Amino acid sequence: MHENINRKWWKEKVVYQLYPRSFKDTNGDGIGDLKGIIEKLDYIQSLGIDVVWLNPIYESPNDDMGYDISDFRSIMKEFGTMEDFDLLLKGLHSRGIKLIMDLVANHTSDEHTWFKESRKSKDNPYRNYYHWWDADKGKPPYRWSIFDKESNAWKYDATTNSYYLHIFSEKQPDLNWENPEVRNAVYDIMKFWLDKGIDGFRLDVIACISKDISFPEMPKDMPVGEWFPYYTQGPHLHDYLQEMNREVFSKYDCMNVGEMSFVTTDNALLFVDEDRNELQTFYHFDHTGARISKENFMYADDDNWDLVAWKKIFYKWDKAFAEKGWGTIYLGNHDMSRMVSRFGNDSEEFRTLSSKMLHTFLLSMRATPYIYNGDEIGMVNTNHTNIENYQDVYTINYYNQLKQKGEDHDGFLNSHAKISRDNGRTPMQWNDTAQAGFTSATPWLAVNENYKTLNVEEQESDPDSVLNYFKNMIQLRKKNMTLVYGAFELVDEDNQQIFAYTRQLENDKFLVILNFSDQTAVLNTSIEINENNILISNYKQPHHNNVYSPMHQSFIN
Ligand code: GLC
Ligand code: CA
Repeated sequence: MHENINRKWWKEKVVYQLYPRSFKDTNGDGIGDLKGIIEKLDYIQSLGIDVVWLNPIYESPNDDMGYDISDFRSIMKEFGTMEDFDLLLKGLHSRGIKLIMDLVANHTSDEHTWFKESRKSKDNPYRNYYHWWDADKGKPPYRWSIFDKESNAWKYDATTNSYYLHIFSEKQPDLNWENPEVRNAVYDIMKFWLDKGIDGFRLDVIACISKDISFPEMPKDMPVGEWFPYYTQGPHLHDYLQEMNREVFSKYDCMNVGEMSFVTTDNALLFVDEDRNELQTFYHFDHTGARISKENFMYADDDNWDLVAWKKIFYKWDKAFAEKGWGTIYLGNHDMSRMVSRFGNDSEEFRTLSSKMLHTFLLSMRATPYIYNGDEIGMVNTNHTNIENYQDVYTINYYNQLKQKGEDHDGFLNSHAKISRDNGRTPMQWNDTAQAGFTSATPWLAVNENYKTLNVEEQESDPDSVLNYFKNMIQLRKKNMTLVYGAFELVDEDNQQIFAYTRQLENDKFLVILNFSDQTAVLNTSIEINENNILISNYKQPHHNNVYSPMHQSFIN
């Protein structure tokens, strides 16, 4: 069957992204842990997903919640021990679920031995593991830093009278990938975990590993959105990825996905064309700008939503991989606010319908779907407007900067509240007991107040819940390779309310209809719709004359 499609196991999987810190706490310290994930293995299996991506679980002082690693070969104490890890891996594998780990290879923690050594002296063997700028040469050319207290990516270090580069927080110094020792050290770490039996990696900010180390001056009046070439997609990126593939990926039957900033459909295939031996997949950010201010991405902008333009982004990306390469699809992760609050409608009236609609979307596109934990029950934003409620370095440092400069920090929070990363990091809502059954203590980040009515236990027993819809939708995808490999074509592409498309493989054809608006909508198409053939829908009543209810979708065979 379907002899001419290039089948690969990692194209057919559904990935579940699990944020360990907020999943389940078992020792009463308010922080999720590996034993908690082990406790929930049957739940994870019940979803029908095939791969778990774990956010970083390595030793870390947690300046950036585990993305600042101080030891790549040990488990963060708060999360447990290597024994717990081995049990977790075994538990997943025995349930037929694969595990991919988060590899943070662009930077380490400043508490990593490499950095502690590197900063000691200019002739330390680890000196060249990081990017240093000798203060005798004067100040380094300005580099903005996303997470820095002063937006400055160069931090002065008195011991050697030099600055080090950190494009994230000052506790996340950038590794110098020009140094082959660094690259080999990273490959060894990757092999260490793959030899333990894991099934691959999500590669954190991988486009940043190669930089222009002449550090050209950035024009002063450049808009933020244009800064990225100074940080990502440097001149040796493809060499490094090819080397990584040769040294690591080619030796294992594993999957990988790169977090790829500043990638376009024009250069996409350079990364994932199989003949180039780099990555299998990556994810881009083109669709995630929706409802975020174009001027400053720390702010929300509800008016920045244009369904027609949004559809075209997906169309363009689908076409980029139509012949070669392969895509990924996601609407939520630990760096974003909640999926249904961002792309759907989280009001009481529409939350459930809208979550189901978005899952239909995620699970019916030609790409490997990534579902972020909590989205399977339609968890929503907390929208906190008080800085006390935040834990994220990103939010806190930006807020403090505005405050110091005497700028409108409250206005910032009111807007940022809708898009903050902490919205997506609140604890999993397991049941209606205290702290949503996540912990017996005070959680590290407050539980969303709506947990009494929005939780896993409630939804497991309700056949019409988001959770059960999600599970059904996964089964539908698994049974129909057309939903994985079939060609994607937009239907009524200029429709402002409905995102409709077909998926077709040989004679097998599906029509997907998603009304993204909170009003009824009309679909303009000559495709004949037989209401008896609806495979799955979030409304019970059939529709008439191509008129669709708000947040409504259907599948038609
Ligand atoms: C990635 C991670 C994010 C982290 C950053 C720095 O974007 O997803 O959470 O803060 O890299 O490591
Ligand atoms: Ca714990």
